Amino acid sequence: MAKVLIINGPNLNMLGQRPKDHYGSLTLSEINALIIKENANHFELDFFQSNSEGEIVTKIQNSLDVAGIIINPAAYTHTSIAIRDALELYRGPIVEVHLSDVDKRDDFRKINFIRDLCTASFSGKKQDSYLDAIKYLKKLK
Ligand code: DQA
Repeated sequence: MAKVLIINGPNLNMLGQRPKDHYGSLTLSEINALIIKENANHFELDFFQSNSEGEIVTKIQNSLDVAGIIINPAAYTHTSIAIRDALELYRGPIVEVHLSDVDKRDDFRKINFIRDLCTASFSGKKQDSYLDAIKYLKKLK
């Protein structure tokens, strides 16, 4: 079974306690359960969350053989050349996800170091952004 890596960056382990108007009320485990349901055994899913930039870089480097990457780099979207450079090593489809609509919030969230490397981006639909991402990869593969 082809594997898809789902990466969540810093503070996404605190979903459920973060501002609900931007991020919804579900915890990351609850969102992951919805993704598993939507996936319906199409892919093997590897869920990875880290608050550390280096751990995310290393995880990407060690996963270059997966069939797809879904990534919400959280705040690192707007700051991390290191995560961008790691993603540049990957040859398959990269799907960017955000719970909130990062393009319509603070100016600093409009800076995006990964967007141009991604084959698709889903944002602003809270947990449904992740479901759109897995649906997109299922159609692709
Ligand atoms: C986020 C948006 C980022 O700007 C923010 O730093 C996050 C979450 C989102 O999913 O909407 O932590 O990536």
